[in-house]
Amino acid sequence: MENIKIAIRDFNLHFGSKHVLKNINIEFPANKIVALIGPSGCGKSTLLRSLNRMHDLSPDARLEGDILLEDLHLLHPRTDVVAIRRKVGMVFQRPNPFPKSIYENVAYGLRLTGTHNEADIRARVESCLQQSYIWEETKDELQKSALQLSGGQQQRLCIARAIAVEPEVILLDEPCSALDPISTAKIEDLLLELKNRYTIVIVTHNMQQAQRVADFTAFMYLGEVIEYGPTDQIFNHPQQMLTRNYVEGHFG
Ligand SMILES: Nc1ncnc2c1ncn2[C@@H]1O[C@H](COP(=O)(O)OP(=O)(O)OP(=O)(O)O)[C@@H](O)[C@H]1O
Ligand SMILES: [Mg+2]
Repeated sequence: MENIKIAIRDFNLHFGSKHVLKNINIEFPANKIVALIGPSGCGKSTLLRSLNRMHDLSPDARLEGDILLEDLHLLHPRTDVVAIRRKVGMVFQRPNPFPKSIYENVAYGLRLTGTHNEADIRARVESCLQQSYIWEETKDELQKSALQLSGGQQQRLCIARAIAVEPEVILLDEPCSALDPISTAKIEDLLLELKNRYTIVIVTHNMQQAQRVADFTAFMYLGEVIEYGPTDQIFNHPQQMLTRNYVEGHFG
């Protein structure tokens, strides 16, 4: 595989006595989109959340193995979580803008990471809103509350907020499941555009979406990666019976 951005090696995760992720070995290439698919409860979100240390807040989570972002060991206790979150942005299922203005939603992370010149911030806010295809709809009302935007607009704003601090990786957990088809199509176009600059990992239950956007797809089942390969292989020439049954809609 080409230029590897994230390498997951012998990764296991337990919640208490429950073994939720089992011997995961998988690599995510730079500037590609990887889709994680599989039935509810198979561990997709748990795996995604491991990539920016979101389990730090779960006292019963036990993580073993290695996750490398290039040469940065993401699971190492001495690796700074703030530095990780800056490199690895996250977009959730439900759009969750801050209860602040559209402008402040994007500016916030910049201020937090040390940009204080307002002209620089303004330029960066505009550029991120443009990259997220939401500039035209919002440029005349940047001071309006983000909560007044539609769900699809809020989700594009959340993507703008995520890219404001120039991450290397963007994680998205079912980002379109609360959106209508037109908003979904906009987000998909946006992801295809963003992959030129970022590495993207997306969890989706939408098989068509995975086929439209993902270069590679991983099929997970009961905490294991059953099959991982080019998206065309997973959907059209699966090597494993379990994968075939799932993509043909026999379970899940
Ligand atoms: N904080 C937690 N504590 C204990 N168990 C958890 C925790 N988070 C997730 N789990 C369990 O881990 C397993 C995997 O959950 P996860 O949310 O990763 O599944 P998923 O593939 O994202 O499912 P869905 O498609 O429904 O979102 C489930 O059995 C779930 O109950
Ligand atoms: Mg999930």
